[in-house]
Amino acid sequence: MSTRVGAVVPAAGRGERLGGGTPKALRPLAGRPMLLRAVETLLASAHVTQVVVAAPPTLVDVVGQILGPGVCVVPGGGERVDSVRTALDALDDDIGVVLVHDAARPLTPATLVDAVAAAVLAGHPAVIPVLPVTDTVKEIDADGRVVRTPRRDVLRAVQTPQGFRRDILRTAYANRDLPVTDDAGLVEALGVPVTTIPGSEEAFKVTRPVDLVLAEALLADSLARDGQR
Ligand code: C5P
Repeated sequence: MSTRVGAVVPAAGRGERLGGGTPKALRPLAGRPMLLRAVETLLASAHVTQVVVAAPPTLVDVVGQILGPGVCVVPGGGERVDSVRTALDALDDDIGVVLVHDAARPLTPATLVDAVAAAVLAGHPAVIPVLPVTDTVKEIDADGRVVRTPRRDVLRAVQTPQGFRRDILRTAYANRDLPVTDDAGLVEALGVPVTTIPGSEEAFKVTRPVDLVLAEALLADSLARDGQR
């Protein structure tokens, strides 16, 4: 396996749950687009040597200008899996390890990117960062009635970046019609073991308006601390 690490960033979502009209990835946080922050974090990792971004199809040129010449930008698809697949195809042939990272997780620390990449390079075929869940989770039926209450202590919330051996992710994406909500779900369906590592509270996904408020507050706090140094 080649040990060269590349990253793909699905950033083509409309961000309807966030509101505001602008595609989510281009929404500013403390004046800079979320996507730019996510890409800079990937490039700050000692491991990542190539980044491919899947942008909203009408904004490929705009996103290319924001990110600069070092980042490849491709048109995303109708669903996240389509965007990831198109970006995967654009990676250099000699990339052997792939990180898939949501543009919508702009405060992810570079140390988490490094930890995921290092775990794949150490021999784990698929690696995901996870956190314990704090709410109790219920499974419900179509009428909203509770069917089951899984034990909370064995549940984990899953973040990105998720890291994979490239050959395995490529095979997994051949099964893309499976109803999964993350890349590791496709890999699990192949029977490949998926390893968990500790995630980061800062790697939360900006989905709803309240997440934007939290992200702005965390950035303001870290800027204030930098100013005090
Ligand atoms: O919608 P959700 O928050 O789960 O999106 C996760 C990531 O997938 C976001 O970064 C979003 O831009 C991306 N996405 C995409 N193409 C789509 C839908 C979502 O690249 N068609």
